[in-house]
Amino acid sequence: MQDLIGKTMLVTGATAGIGLETARALCARGARVHLACRSPEKAEPIVAELRRAHGARAAELLSLDLADLSSVRRAAARFLDGGEPLHVLVNNAGVAGIRGRTVDGFELTFGTNHLGHFLFTVSLLERLKASAPARIVHVSSRSHAMVSSIPFARLRERTGLVVLPAYAVSKLANNLFSAELARRMQGTGVTSYAVHPGVVASEIWKPIPRPLRAPWFWLRRMVSNEEGARTSLYCAAAPELASHSGRYYANEREVAPSRATGNIELARRLWEWSEQACELTTTSSR
Ligand SMILES: NC(=O)c1ccc[n+]([C@@H]2O[C@H](COP(=O)([O-])OP(=O)(O)OC[C@H]3O[C@@H](n4cnc5c(N)ncnc54)[C@H](OP(=O)(O)O)[C@@H]3O)[C@@H](O)[C@H]2O)c1
Repeated sequence: MQDLIGKTMLVTGATAGIGLETARALCARGARVHLACRSPEKAEPIVAELRRAHGARAAELLSLDLADLSSVRRAAARFLDGGEPLHVLVNNAGVAGIRGRTVDGFELTFGTNHLGHFLFTVSLLERLKASAPARIVHVSSRSHAMVSSIPFARLRERTGLVVLPAYAVSKLANNLFSAELARRMQGTGVTSYAVHPGVVASEIWKPIPRPLRAPWFWLRRMVSNEEGARTSLYCAAAPELASHSGRYYANEREVAPSRATGNIELARRLWEWSEQACELTTTSSR
């Protein structure tokens, strides 16, 4: 199937796991794919593999560290300078189970999974609009339902001792961002979708100590990275989703997200907070 010939796409975090399989599948369907990655030593062999398999123009490397807003600005500027259209942006990269702060001082999981992607996406919005119909796919998680709000006062603190709530907050932020984008992009031809990829045996579980990993994987009935990429691919390309902007998908089907995902006031506040944090606006909304 070569149905994506002529489409330009961008996948963040395409060096491993779900993002790597997403990039491989998009290239196999004929798309030209920019792999936005922080580790050139991991990404270069993948770009070479994709070019060997699908031609010299199939894949391109874009250097991007989502935990560093100046890197995010440089990556967006470099993509825009290339003058290419952007038909699909897959905000896939993510971290879990690690503690710290980003270069700019934000809680590491939130800063990487939400804030880096927020700045990257907003910086590319005009290009997406100019390329419409265009889509943005946010790889979220059903873990978003573990929390019901965003702890704005703590987003500049180092990750707490218990790491799961930080991950859940970052994934609720993915859902809220997707829903708010859908509202703001109405009438532009740019649509937005949030995805739960399943419980996937990817590298994201590396922080779990090795002896615990096998029983943990078994208990959670993990699926392969290829299977984990399916719902992202569905949202990136399925024609029937063109009018379903703002919805949430798992197993290639629409499912109901948490109630907090539908909190319009919270989504607006997160957008404005994120604009300020990324120095995109000077108005006070915190
Ligand atoms: N696996 C699951 O069960 C599961 C379930 C629900 C949701 N998800 C979501 O699925 C997405 C993909 O995760 P995965 O499971 O495929 O994990 P993974 O195998 O660990 O891959 C994560 C990708 O994100 C990249 N990344 C991490 N930090 C980055 C940064 N600061 N800047 C740029 N790229 C960065 C990694 O790059 P490096 O190779 O350089 O580390 C890697 O390419 C994540 O958003 C995750 O939250 C996963």
